[in-house]
Amino acid sequence: MLFVVTFANSFEKSSVSELKSMCSFSVIDSYRNTLIIDSDKDISELVLQKPPTFIQSAFRVYNNGKIYTNRYLDSLYECVTHSGVSKDKALIIECCDINSKTEYSAKDIEVYVGLKLEDDGYLVTMRDPTLLLYIILVNMNCYVGYTNYREKLKVDPLRHDRLNHKVSRSELKLRQAIDQFNIKTGGIAMDIGAAPGGWSRLLAKRGYRVVSIDWAEMDSKRLSESGLSVKVIGKDDINGIGDLIYKYDIIHVKTNGYLNFPIHINLITNDTNMHPHESAKLLNRYANILNKDGDAIMTVKCVSRNVDNFIKEAVERMPDFELIAAKVLPSNRQEVTLHLKPNNSGVP
Ligand SMILES: C[S@@+](CC[C@H](N)C(=O)[O-])C[C@H]1O[C@@H](n2cnc3c(N)ncnc32)[C@H](O)[C@@H]1O
Repeated sequence: MLFVVTFANSFEKSSVSELKSMCSFSVIDSYRNTLIIDSDKDISELVLQKPPTFIQSAFRVYNNGKIYTNRYLDSLYECVTHSGVSKDKALIIECCDINSKTEYSAKDIEVYVGLKLEDDGYLVTMRDPTLLLYIILVNMNCYVGYTNYREKLKVDPLRHDRLNHKVSRSELKLRQAIDQFNIKTGGIAMDIGAAPGGWSRLLAKRGYRVVSIDWAEMDSKRLSESGLSVKVIGKDDINGIGDLIYKYDIIHVKTNGYLNFPIHINLITNDTNMHPHESAKLLNRYANILNKDGDAIMTVKCVSRNVDNFIKEAVERMPDFELIAAKVLPSNRQEVTLHLKPNNSGVP
């Protein structure tokens, strides 16, 4: 079985080791962060069952063929129609041109193929499609496949939002983490390294009472435009937080230091731009205020390519947490996002 496997640019080595741990494969074609592999197992199913850390996506290839410069669009279209895609299912088309050497953009190809498929009696739609038909072009080879669109949305739930530019890049990271790590929302969240406020905004919108910790300013205009009330306090006012938290959507504590926090919470998010070692040590200090079934989400900014080491070293500095999952999310390709749960130190 052929598959197109993509991964984040900075994580080639880790992605290949991850792939090796999932199946035996041989490489048919490759370009930068894309591999075409012949695998003994259905990788597209495996990534649905258990989201991998470094691999971004794996598409089954149903047909592939050479693209000829002198009949570029025609040879590509033939490859699509010989893929076995059904005429009865509503299709949305996505083209990804990895290293194009032609005058056509991926968008041109989507439009061309879409119109021609319609002429030939296929159902093409932007609204509520059943199948996602993908056309991937690598080194003048065309790889075509299709998958259930709803299934695809499950692993890439932000597809619509990204296309419609509804949320900021920073918010995308957290939305994706919450969805992929299956975090139960609601209760009180502490957002460390909160400014300018994308994550805090999202947390408040998802029903948390939010305590945002950052010395830097929050984007008060955006927060109030979103209908959120914000109260700014200093670290010396922290003892009154138990009352304040139910009066405002977000309490912004202006500090970059550790806070002796007087209440228990459900979620800690940590997106500080400190070195991962420092960031991990700070997070670990808050483990004991997290409820026993609480969660922590932390981004590890990878300042070198030795990603596995970075994760290991960060986790070693958080002995009061257990690492549940690590994931390079599509919206944060230079970072690994960790999902942690407190060991035994959390409250019952
Ligand atoms: C990448 S930004 C966070 C963006 C934020 N998640 C958002 O969605 O808007 C990193 C933030 O971490 C803050 N920061 C760095 N060290 C910190 C510390 N020790 N405690 C709290 N915040 C810190 C910085 O001031 C900066 O605002």
